[in-house]
This record gives sequence, C-alpha cells and structure tokens, in this order.
Amino acid sequence: MTVLDRASATACANIALAKYWGKVDVRLNLPAVPSVSMTLAGMRTQTTVEVVPELTEDEFELNGRAAGEKETARVTAMLDRIRRAARRTEPARVSSRNDFPTASGLASSASGFAALAAAAAAAYGLRATPAQLSAFARASSASAARSIFGGFVMLPKGRAGEGRLAAKPLHDESHWDVRMVVAVLDEGPKDVGSTDGMERSRHTSPLYQGWVDAAPALCRKVQRALAARDLEALGVAMEQSTVAFHAVAMSSAPPTFYWKGATLDVLQAVFALRARGTLAYATMDAGPHVKVLCEAKDAAAVARALGRVPGVKKALVTEPGPGVSVSRR
Ligand code: DP6
Repeated sequence: MTVLDRASATACANIALAKYWGKVDVRLNLPAVPSVSMTLAGMRTQTTVEVVPELTEDEFELNGRAAGEKETARVTAMLDRIRRAARRTEPARVSSRNDFPTASGLASSASGFAALAAAAAAAYGLRATPAQLSAFARASSASAARSIFGGFVMLPKGRAGEGRLAAKPLHDESHWDVRMVVAVLDEGPKDVGSTDGMERSRHTSPLYQGWVDAAPALCRKVQRALAARDLEALGVAMEQSTVAFHAVAMSSAPPTFYWKGATLDVLQAVFALRARGTLAYATMDAGPHVKVLCEAKDAAAVARALGRVPGVKKALVTEPGPGVSVSRR
C-alpha cells in the first residue's frame, strides 16, 4: 500500500489542579466550567498517522493491538474534522503507544487526543496553530485541549455553539519545580467514563448547579496561587475543586463513586503528611487513583509514604512537562 504522507507526535498527560466536570454543549464538547492543569513529563503518548489512499476505512492500533470499534470511531471522528479542514478525504492508518503503564488505569485520552490532533494535522498537511490544535483536541476530549501545551495550562469554560474554544498556556514547565506523585491503586471493576459521568451529574445531581456557579472562583484561586508559586494556597483550592466535583458525581442518580476504600486511605496519609509539616495536597479524577502535589525536595518521602498504604500498587513521581511535539518521518 502507498503511504502518501506520514507524521508522528508526542504529547504528555495532564492532571487538572482546578477540575473540569460538566458540559454546556455536548455536541461540540464544550466544558461548563474553566479548568487549570499541569502537563506531566514522562507520561507520554506517541502517535503516528499515515495517509493510505487504498484503505477503505481508518485503521487504529493501540499499544501494538488493533483497537476496538468504539475507540476506532473516536479516532475517525477526529480524523474527519482534520480532513474537512484540510480538504482531504483519504483514510489513515493510526498507531498509538503510551509509555506509562497502560494497566495503571490512568486516563490516556488527554495525551492520546492531543498527540492524534497534532500528528493528523501534520500528516494531512493542515497548517494549524497550537490554539487550533487545542480546539481539535478539545472536540474529542476536553482535557486533551490542555495537553497541547507544556507546563501549566488553562481551558476556559465554553459558551454553547463556540466551536473554536481552545486551551491557553499560563506558565511553561520551568515556572515552578513541583512534583505530582501519582498513587496508582489496584484496579477494581471499570469506572463510569467521564463523558457519561458528567451527563449523569448534569441531569440528576442536586449539587450540579452549585458546582458550575462556584467553579470559576475556585479556578481563579488556583491561577493566583500558581502565579505566586504558593503551594499552600494552591493545595487548598485544588482539594476543594476535586472534592466538589466528586460530591457532584456521588450525588448523581445512580451515584457515581470513583473512590475506593484505598482512595480514602491515601487521602488520610496525605493529611497525616501535612500534620507533620510536609506540604502535600491531593486531587482525584474519574477513577480511584490519587495524585499528590508537593515540593520537589519532598517527592521521594511522599512517594514512600503513599507506597506504604495498603492497596497502592505503586507511586510514580512526575514533574511539569513539555507541550506536544511533531516529527515528519
Ligand atoms: C475528571 O476530558 O476525559 O479528569 O471531554 O468527555 O472526554 P470528555 O472528558 P475528559 O474529562 C476529564 C475530567 C477530569 C477532570 C479534568 O481533567 O479536568
């Protein structure tokens, strides 16, 4: 088969310090609240897109294996948006690989869709600015909009119909030498995906509107603390943001509980570290794992303390990482 064009891109995962949860426009995938994140070095997805005219449909291989129908459909949806903008029609062969443990159950959609947007744009010859790539990534998964940029990144809330919404870089990765320690828990049954969880929250949680109203002020607190490199102020706002979003998920019908028993045990360990004077603050996403923000000098001790909690499989230390990079090969 003829490979007409080929490009690869690498993007890092990100963890939100001020959380995104809920959409104002499901079709365009626009968040109802603003969010702020840190891009994580060392948790990368590398994706290669090859334009192959002889194919009858797109092919998608994930970590060396042919992906399922649902995953392939999400890849095709992204490729369709890029092809429309590039005025191209040929199918593509896409292969994607995560260099962080795939079995860890950590979300890879952020790094995955950021790398795919950048690799596909390059392969189809679409000249896109980082903001345009971010908007493409956001349409597939809003958190992916933030992984286009390195360091500390903001995704504003959307307004219905605003298809170009993109993330904005706030500070690059050299702004602040902090660490995010990722406590990976043993896997339980599969969680409710974030897209379904958000819609359930919007339709059924009595706390949803309160969350949407309160999130912008929490996000501003996170941004101010980040600019001032004030770990205590950032940590307090970050924990309130994550607990507020989980309270919304838990108060949905039926309830969406992402926490496991060990999630609370890790939280207690974080509070105990703080009681002993270590600045360490927790955040959780749509799964049971706990991510802990701390100073670089404390990261090894924090990782050891979290690693001792029963139910923690491992504790990975990560630091602020770069934005997406593209190579044509
Ligand atoms: C809890 O970006 O995965 O991790 O836009 O529906 O794909 P979709 O959702 P996604 O949601 C991430 C939610 C979160 C918080 C966050 O990363 O801000």
